[in-house]
Amino acid sequence: MCGIVGYLGKNEKKEILLDGLQELEYRGYDSAGIAVIEGKNLNQFKAIGKLENLREKTKNYQTKGFGISIGHTRWATHGKPTELNAHPHLGDYSYVVHNGIIENYQALKAELQAEGVKFLSQTDTETIVHLFEKENKTSKSVFQAFKNTIERLDGAYATLLITQADTDTIYFAKHGSPMLVGFNGDDVYFASSDTPIIGKATEVYYLEDGEYGYAKEGVFKLFDANGEKTFKKQALTADKVLAQKDGYRFFMEKEIYEQSRVISETMMGRVLDDTIALDELGSDFFEGINSVKICACGTSYHSALTAAYLLERLAKVRCDIEIASEFRYKDPLLTPDTLFITISQSGETADTLEALKMAKRAGLKSLSICNVDNSSIVRESDAAILTRAGIEKGVASTKAFATQTMVLWILALYIGQEKKTISKDVLKTEIDAMLHTPKALVVTDTLHEKLHRLSKRYLHGHGFFFIGRDIFFPLALEGALKLKEISYMHAEGYPAGEMKHGPIALADSELFTIALMPKSMHYDKMKSNVEELSARDATICAISPLPFELADDFIQTKYDSHPMLEFFEMMVVTQLLALEISVRLGNDVDMPRNLAKSVTVE
Ligand code: M6R
Repeated sequence: MCGIVGYLGKNEKKEILLDGLQELEYRGYDSAGIAVIEGKNLNQFKAIGKLENLREKTKNYQTKGFGISIGHTRWATHGKPTELNAHPHLGDYSYVVHNGIIENYQALKAELQAEGVKFLSQTDTETIVHLFEKENKTSKSVFQAFKNTIERLDGAYATLLITQADTDTIYFAKHGSPMLVGFNGDDVYFASSDTPIIGKATEVYYLEDGEYGYAKEGVFKLFDANGEKTFKKQALTADKVLAQKDGYRFFMEKEIYEQSRVISETMMGRVLDDTIALDELGSDFFEGINSVKICACGTSYHSALTAAYLLERLAKVRCDIEIASEFRYKDPLLTPDTLFITISQSGETADTLEALKMAKRAGLKSLSICNVDNSSIVRESDAAILTRAGIEKGVASTKAFATQTMVLWILALYIGQEKKTISKDVLKTEIDAMLHTPKALVVTDTLHEKLHRLSKRYLHGHGFFFIGRDIFFPLALEGALKLKEISYMHAEGYPAGEMKHGPIALADSELFTIALMPKSMHYDKMKSNVEELSARDATICAISPLPFELADDFIQTKYDSHPMLEFFEMMVVTQLLALEISVRLGNDVDMPRNLAKSVTVE
């Protein structure tokens, strides 16, 4: 995901921009660039690949005295990762950086091209700078030209613009993508998150959607649809680790709360009004493919299991799931009409990587679903879809699972759409549900508080069974994995209908059953399975939108119109329950014993 840094002041601008961009590296990027205006001098540098390449290119460049500057790390959406497509984008005399997607860029570009404007890149961003320069020909001020420009943009953006028409001012606007402003005396900083400006700015203002304005030495003006507005700066912590946790106690907690936001990033540019777009895959990507095999480990394996239901049900494609460490040694039968998908948060998991290499040796086409661009698994695959979760620090994976599952849901719909196995009406219903997912992932204070109180009843016992049916079975597996990773208590995920084939023998009051009881999928069947356990005195914690009389503890969910919305909402409940139990037990939530974030050994 793109990252933005801006700086206005007298300090060395190149270093501020490059250090700031370094702090945003975790968002993933494939090119980077900076632009600086000092007096009438305008300097610009761009490089593809890692920031070291940009550092190398700028090693003999130093800024002096007062100036304005913007920098950007680009994660390609429109157009390949090339220097021409890297930001900042240049008009005739202005530069712009942008994070987000300008949805109406094609119409704007056509309009500008018809007037003779030449475009150098394939990006949506370049339209902003040309539109600005067009507006600047007729507007009464540079600010008015900037305002007119952003009023014509549809979509999501955080953007900074500098221009030789006004060499001491940075223009900014935010709508749908994150941006904040840092202050320290007359120095002004802009960034996509606060880590680039910690230690530099002392105060911060987090811009709201619809806000725009400009900064110049000693002047900062903020506007929204109602005109100029006042705003309150807040003190910025000097502690980077604390800031990285955004006030949460643990990275895992922060990452659970982030899910609602990052899932929108996962969908951005892919889930459109009535169609699914996956620019990462060429138009003939599924030619000759009749089945899919997915290989992964741990949490990623659970998202794969969820995908098997979605791919068969929505895309009508046969789908097998394999644990990578098993797949490697089973002499699998592989046929070239099978698409081999690997799922990995880190992109470095040794077993998954080796499974991918085996599939490639057997001549299979490969696709990876991964959170880390340029990781080994991404590099090894024919194509990759990035999950865009942002860096995940908690060893117990949360937002990676949510975003992987979203990508797989998108993929199932995309295959169905391309192979025409899904009707327009079903596609529309699925897309509507997808667009509601961010809401289903919101953590409310009431929910968190309830799970905090409930957790004290689950600190003992001889084990937990998480049970569910259909896609709620892999969710049960994932819920159990979360709990055992950070509580060190035994927990198992089980298909609810299987309990009576053995595990029910364990049922007594000290067996805790976490029952996932969605309304929109097999509710009555699930209810019968839970009743069987309750009849044997198992302690039941039911998670459902429908009240359930036999529950010892009951967590009522809200979203009952679509199984995937119920899935995501219940996922949050299981994550928070595990977190609160672990906290009460005094465990290290972010770094549980014996575990590593990335398992790069067999
Ligand atoms: O990076 P990967 O997704 O390939 O990692 C796979 C597993 O090691 C990982 O999901 C692990 O199970 C997590 N600790 C789960 O919380």
